[in-house]
Amino acid sequence: MKTIIEPFRIKSVEPIRLTTPEERKNLIEAAHFNLFALHSDDVLIDLLTDSGTSAMSAAQWAAVMRGDESYAGSPSFQRFEAAVKHLMPFEHVIPTHQGRAAEAILFALLGGPGKFIPSNTHFDTTRGNIEATGASADDLVIAEGLEPQLEHPFKGNIDLDALRAYLETHGASVPCVMLTVTNNAGGGQPVSLDNIRATAAIAREFGRPFFLDGCRFAENAFFIKQREPGQGERAIVDIVRDMFAEADGMTMSAKKDAFANIGGWLALNDDALAAQARTRLIQTEGFPTYGGLAGRDLDAIAQGLSEVIDEDYLRYRIRTNEYISERLDALGVPVVKPAGGHAVFVDARSWLPHIGPLAYPGQALAVALYELGGIRACEIGTVMFGLAPDGKEQPAPMDLVRLAMPRRVYTQSHADYLIEVFEELAGHRNRLPGYRITEAPAMMRHFTAKFARLD
Ligand code: F0G
Repeated sequence: MKTIIEPFRIKSVEPIRLTTPEERKNLIEAAHFNLFALHSDDVLIDLLTDSGTSAMSAAQWAAVMRGDESYAGSPSFQRFEAAVKHLMPFEHVIPTHQGRAAEAILFALLGGPGKFIPSNTHFDTTRGNIEATGASADDLVIAEGLEPQLEHPFKGNIDLDALRAYLETHGASVPCVMLTVTNNAGGGQPVSLDNIRATAAIAREFGRPFFLDGCRFAENAFFIKQREPGQGERAIVDIVRDMFAEADGMTMSAKKDAFANIGGWLALNDDALAAQARTRLIQTEGFPTYGGLAGRDLDAIAQGLSEVIDEDYLRYRIRTNEYISERLDALGVPVVKPAGGHAVFVDARSWLPHIGPLAYPGQALAVALYELGGIRACEIGTVMFGLAPDGKEQPAPMDLVRLAMPRRVYTQSHADYLIEVFEELAGHRNRLPGYRITEAPAMMRHFTAKFARLD
């Protein structure tokens, strides 16, 4: 059979409240055209993020009941730690309430003024946690990774020559080298095993620790299996182990590839650094055997980790986004190619050329998708990145709209509906209005900005 079916059946459902385009026009206007201000029960298909939005399995819900809420030494922690170490053989596994808490602890220890931390592309919270310490966060993704329409199997790879030059320049001021798998901010694009190994070798050569931001490790491993020569016959679990065998540590958001609604961890091999991290954890998150999580969350993560490396799941997962991307491409909608592991990114600036970047084409498309179809997507462009710390506004490098797929939540007919919404929008896209910002905070304005329609 050529149809790749959802490899699960549905035991428990959440009804979607159907609304009309007229209702949605009023709702989004009342929300000042900011999709973050909508009530989620006014949304039909919520593609705002794949983070914390997964459907847990029956086995995960059963694991929740097994959760042990002891303050110290809970068996839930032991199951969590064993599940992480089964895939990522680090000495120390330190739970946190989500990924950014692991980053905050790591960079409080490694960052500081005069430090330089390279990655393929730092995710916003990673960058924020590095910059908050006074250190510099630098993105060294390969040139192909910045060309939306260009097909390349591993657009998340780091530029190895640039990394070497960076280490030659900054040497001892580099407390660690990072890679984000998959590269979320670069379109959910994977990093090859070869690139991970070469990055690790360069970091070792310069005596620098190497950390992976492993949020979407399983999706990355599936792309390696699918696209990297010599990897096609290997089990996902072996590819995952090979990815992490190269690293000295990792940060993780369990809200992505652990199918959990909350959670994360910091893992590392260095005993002294781990001791410092645990001290900080006790200050900010909790005791080292729960780290800001309930025992039941640790159990849900442990079970989720055993499910996410299932190849049938990953094939369906990756295919969902490819399917949407292919259909949108056929409609003439410019999409970032190839499709990402967790999301499809639409190039709103080129699809709505009559809206200049400072009239926010990504916001215009996101609002239109909601009004017409009840779909909630996320602008990743000038609204999100256009405001410099000095208060000046300039166009972001790209104006994208991210359609992020929650894991195991929507079916193929939801995908087909989404494609139909784009098909209908295509007919009148040249009449969509731009926007201006009427009110916004000085930082991270996309979450709370208020907008007005331009005539
Ligand atoms: N690293 C990456 C690559 C991420 O995508 C995220 C979160 C984090 C770290 C932080 O993890 O949310 O658990 O604190 N990304 C979400 C998103 C928010 O929508 O892409 P967190």
